[in-house]
Amino acid sequence: MRERFPLPTVPNGWYAVLLSRELRGAPVPLRAFDRDLVAFRDREGRAAVLDSYCPHLGTHLGYGGRVVDGTIECPFHRWRFDGEGRCTHATGAASPPRAALRSWHTAEQDGIVFVWYHAAASAPSWQVPAMPTGARPYGKPMELRWQVPTHVQEIRENIGDETHFGVIHRLPHAGAARFEPRGPLASLRFPSTFDLLGRAIHVDTQCDMAGPGILSMRNVGWVDTRVLVLSTPTDAETSDLRLLVSAADVGRVPLSSWLLTRVVGFLTRRDVDREVLIWSHKRYVERPVFVGLERTQRRIRAWYRQFYQPGTPA
Ligand code: FES
Ligand SMILES: [Fe+2]
Repeated sequence: MRERFPLPTVPNGWYAVLLSRELRGAPVPLRAFDRDLVAFRDREGRAAVLDSYCPHLGTHLGYGGRVVDGTIECPFHRWRFDGEGRCTHATGAASPPRAALRSWHTAEQDGIVFVWYHAAASAPSWQVPAMPTGARPYGKPMELRWQVPTHVQEIRENIGDETHFGVIHRLPHAGAARFEPRGPLASLRFPSTFDLLGRAIHVDTQCDMAGPGILSMRNVGWVDTRVLVLSTPTDAETSDLRLLVSAADVGRVPLSSWLLTRVVGFLTRRDVDREVLIWSHKRYVERPVFVGLERTQRRIRAWYRQFYQPGTPA
């Protein structure tokens, strides 16, 4: 993939690795940032993410391991590690050896477990914000997921690609886009019109980005829908793309948020399937030939560059 994307595999920032409900009893093996990791809940119930290979003899703790009193226990000889990665018990040893697994910074927000990645292992320089909400509460989200042979930057730049909204999503811009970067956060607003089962709906599209891999896209108007776009580098070849689609009730119509979630979920899956086909085979163009109003993608690319900055080791 490096030939198609001459960029570091993992930009610095917070990435979604799991939904909170996926992290209950048993440890969960994870593949992210070109590494093998394992997640579990510590004694306080906090999400803990560690490097996965036991320092004793290299067992992957995510396969056959279990959680005991808030520590993760290796299935091979039952050494245990706490949420910080410290060995708390080694079978046959009077006291645990000074062995440890690398522990990753985690955050849990809106039912999502996030992990901080930094190429120089710097501590987090910003916090995961609460996901934007509307005037009315969103219903239970529908999850869509893809493994995409592309770089996460491509997925983020897509939100600034004005022309593709009309071509791929049938959601043409109905006015100028306003992009406002604020450090690692940024927002993008534009008016759009879309066709919902034969009816033209005018909405205000509000996108909020947090770092290189978190995006909320809301369409607000007669309907209020939100798609959380969570993109996480799996390895040098693949990105994990998870979408959480939800909607608020339309007026007081019973079950309307449920129904709207399904309609938007169906349309989103259809559109993203097309984009995945394109992303899977396209390559990064350092100097694109932008025309007309295609300004926003360039601004997003400039904003995104900060996530490749070297940092201070923690
Ligand atoms: S390999 Fe994990 S305890 Fe021995
Ligand atoms: Fe798109």
